[in-house]
Amino acid sequence: MPSIGSHHSARAATEEWLTPPAIIAALGPFDLDPCAPVNRPWPMAARHFTIIDNGLAQLWTGRVWLNPPYSASVIGRWLARMAAHNHGTALIFARTETQPFFRYVWEACTALLFLEGRLHFHYPDGTRAKPNGGAPSVLCAYGRKDADRLADSGLAGQFVPLLIPTSLLIPRPAGDAAPGAATWRQLVRAILASEGKPIPLAELYRLISGHPLTERNRNWRAKVRQTLQRGAGRRAAPGIWQLELTL
Ligand SMILES: C[S@@+](CC[C@H](N)C(=O)[O-])C[C@H]1O[C@@H](n2cnc3c(N)ncnc32)[C@H](O)[C@@H]1O
Repeated sequence: MPSIGSHHSARAATEEWLTPPAIIAALGPFDLDPCAPVNRPWPMAARHFTIIDNGLAQLWTGRVWLNPPYSASVIGRWLARMAAHNHGTALIFARTETQPFFRYVWEACTALLFLEGRLHFHYPDGTRAKPNGGAPSVLCAYGRKDADRLADSGLAGQFVPLLIPTSLLIPRPAGDAAPGAATWRQLVRAILASEGKPIPLAELYRLISGHPLTERNRNWRAKVRQTLQRGAGRRAAPGIWQLELTL
């Protein structure tokens, strides 16, 4: 059976490909889904606009979940709205070479998570499609809070921070489940301090590997990179990091 990402099929012409609920559970809750199915097997957000409302003509408020209609003729309009709103997360195909991706993702997102494997979307009756989506998917975080949620989501994939403002260097606690545990920032700085010299990222991974924080986050290498880019370390050369002493 054809899939959503198929280029030439009647099936691919439908827009009713629902996000796997586990993705929304890992990243939510959201305030608004501006392009939701009229008949929904589950809520995607607290409020929904459907094709009857035309979500593109409505005011968007709060944290937005966006899995938009995929057709090449309209996806740019949805992503442009999302980039302007800059508060929420989008799920789209990783068509990284296209003009909408360049304008509204590469140049506008705070962070991305390229999902490992391919998603199986759901039909409006809630059943899961047998074929996978037919193309790789990427989650796009707009805004720093959504970037943090994406980094901490535990979803399998490659996290890529794009715009992490260094003026907002706020250490995050390690989580309620482990009171007193080190934060990522403390951990990264402690290891860089103990080395006392610039070290390659791969060596930093090796030294951090096995720490309890890594067991709670399957994307822990991405978390290490994000922590470095937020100012825990200073890039001495491409791929080489040392302790940032001025912080
Ligand atoms: C890929 S599906 C995603 C559905 C839902 N957002 C989710 O995450 O499961 C795209 C949805 O956009 C809806 N849609 C299409 N045009 C729309 C419009 N102009 N305004 C609001 N919704 C629209 C379709 O009916 C469809 O349910």
